[in-house]
Amino acid sequence: MNILITGGKGQLANSIMDLFKRRECSLGKVDEIYFHGQIFCVDKHHLDITSLEHVKSYFKKIKPGIVINTAAYTHVDDCESNIDLAYKINALGPRNLSIICEEIQAKLIHISTDYVFDGKSKIPYKEFDSPHPINIYGKSKYLGEEYVKQFCSKYFILRTSWLYGHKGKNFVKTILKASKEKEVLRVVNDQIGNPTYAEDLAYHILKLGPTKEYGIYHCTGNDSCSWYEFAKAILQYTNSNCKIQPTSSSDYKSVATRPNYSTLDHMMLRCTIGDKMRHWKVALEDFINNYERNVPLS
Ligand SMILES: NC(=O)c1ccc[n+]([C@@H]2O[C@H](COP(=O)([O-])OP(=O)(O)OC[C@H]3O[C@@H](n4cnc5c(N)ncnc54)[C@H](OP(=O)(O)O)[C@@H]3O)[C@@H](O)[C@H]2O)c1
Repeated sequence: MNILITGGKGQLANSIMDLFKRRECSLGKVDEIYFHGQIFCVDKHHLDITSLEHVKSYFKKIKPGIVINTAAYTHVDDCESNIDLAYKINALGPRNLSIICEEIQAKLIHISTDYVFDGKSKIPYKEFDSPHPINIYGKSKYLGEEYVKQFCSKYFILRTSWLYGHKGKNFVKTILKASKEKEVLRVVNDQIGNPTYAEDLAYHILKLGPTKEYGIYHCTGNDSCSWYEFAKAILQYTNSNCKIQPTSSSDYKSVATRPNYSTLDHMMLRCTIGDKMRHWKVALEDFINNYERNVPLS
């Protein structure tokens, strides 16, 4: 069985490929089934998911049994001014993949986001709570989910949040860099979510792949925090002398409105393959140890 990963240059695709190469991570081993076929990890120049014809001809060539769609337009603020592009990549892209997956009876593992919720809840969102996105990124990702459910019968939708991995840009790397350049950092303390180590997410993606436990999943680091608490832990684990101060979203104007509370509950993981996602602090410490020691992960 061949495996196809879209968005091949992104941070999650790289973490999945790292896991394939190492065959195991702190959470466990990768299923042998993945190594009976070929693994194709392709960027947008090899497979542009926004073109139905392109997807069709590419799928005909490589005949994937499992497709993992990590491709997305992830620049949340830019989505507000590039609305067509956001919907093209985040909604029509998964639609195209779903249509062709259905034609060839492939499984589709599609990655989505906590930003499908509006953040008004006071308790963690379960998989079956009604989405109500409040920005273009969230709206386009939600439409992507709807298309996947509509056009593909063998689907897994995994919603994740506050993702960081070894390749690509992310909050952890931004804080690490800023802490070396500035004496004081100000970070918002009124947006609560779940930091997620891409390697832990990659592990659960690959655990679900061989199963028939189709449906919607929440897969994030366990327990929640604010961006301020997240940044504070990053500084603590790197023994940084940089000071940090909490600030509020109103002091730090961004183009897109973000949900204040987007914590996700992992009910579907608990009810199916099991929830091995680590506490966000445990996973962060592990990431920083690897990052600081410069362990080559790919
Ligand atoms: N990062 C987070 O904090 C976060 C939070 C919640 C959910 N997610 C979801 O998790 C998934 C993976 O995120 P990530 O952080 O790995 O994102 P990423 O690093 O931005 O990777 C996404 C990749 O998709 C590629 N892409 C864009 N348009 C494409 C197209 N038309 N066809 C094929 N590939 C295309 C991008 O290429 P270019 O960069 O060259 O355009 C990029 O390499 C996404 O579905 C995202 O929505 C991420």
